[in-house]
Amino acid sequence: VAIDVSRTSLDHHRWLKEEYDLANLELHRLPIEDVSTLGGDFDLIVSSGVLHHLADPLVGMSALAEVLRPNGVIGIMLYAKYGRLGVEMLQGVFREMDLKQDQESVDRVREALAVLSMDHPVRSYLEIAPDLQFDAGLVDTFLHGRDRSYTVDECIALTEEAGLAFQDWLLKSPYYPHATGDTGFLAGVTALPERQQWSIMERINFRNGCHFFTACHPQRPKDTYVIDFSGDSFTRYVPEFRHECSLEGARLSRYDWSVDLNVDLLACAQQIDGERPVAEIVDMVNRRRKGAGPVALLSLDGARQAFRFLWELDFIAMGIRA
Ligand SMILES: C[S@@+](CC[C@H](N)C(=O)[O-])C[C@H]1O[C@@H](n2cnc3c(N)ncnc32)[C@H](O)[C@@H]1O
Repeated sequence: VAIDVSRTSLDHHRWLKEEYDLANLELHRLPIEDVSTLGGDFDLIVSSGVLHHLADPLVGMSALAEVLRPNGVIGIMLYAKYGRLGVEMLQGVFREMDLKQDQESVDRVREALAVLSMDHPVRSYLEIAPDLQFDAGLVDTFLHGRDRSYTVDECIALTEEAGLAFQDWLLKSPYYPHATGDTGFLAGVTALPERQQWSIMERINFRNGCHFFTACHPQRPKDTYVIDFSGDSFTRYVPEFRHECSLEGARLSRYDWSVDLNVDLLACAQQIDGERPVAEIVDMVNRRRKGAGPVALLSLDGARQAFRFLWELDFIAMGIRA
């Protein structure tokens, strides 16, 4: 079931429905605020790039919460404050110049982008926003007229004010300090509570143009969704490579970047098959090492560090099996 308030957007979805033969997709012209009038409830709700355009995003978020099933999940994408500072500067400029949503205004926007210096704050956003090649993308980004952007703390506040529990970021790497080997600033950040780490790191990794996070009802037991490396429950998680991640030799790649793995990381990564829990992987690694002679065994802390590293960098997802 998909909803949108705009006829043009729905027409596009009708075209996509045909193109990909999505026979069971229902489309409704409906504001998100009225989603309960559909009369259904849902296991998974995805709202990407919508709530930040509403007159009152909390009304939209609360409406979604109302139709979420008890163990369901909501995935939300909102604009991120710091990655869009340059966009907000230019939106202000175009507002002052009274630009509208018409061809002449789009031409003015293109001309403005062409005269920006190479270190203008909007440059980092231009690099990560492929829709800006198109007029519609330029209008949506610079001439929309109504949008706002969110910090980490504001995403969490919106979630909690709607009566939901914040679960996690879909892509985690911008929010963690990745302090392996660091004893200075990053190690200091790692010592802070997790939410504070996220809030600090979004100002260090300022290029993030949007936040994508998940939320659920607060009654849902935390151990069914929180990935926790502090105790030894992580040994029961089942790691699996995320979309478009692959291991070739000692090089682990995502579609956008890659890292060379050290001996422990490589030994763990080689045993990840989406079926074995961490404990079994550690056993396998150590059985091989015992057979191979005097090699240091993989400790529980070594495994914790290795899997945490791979998870925080979005190479693996951790499955929690009932
Ligand atoms: C940036 S587009 C995102 C579209 C789609 N979710 C995606 O990820 O490609 C924002 C969409 O939100 C829709 N929208 C804006 N206000 C809405 C509302 N109150 N209820 C439902 N849809 C709304 C717009 O019509 C537009 O199609």
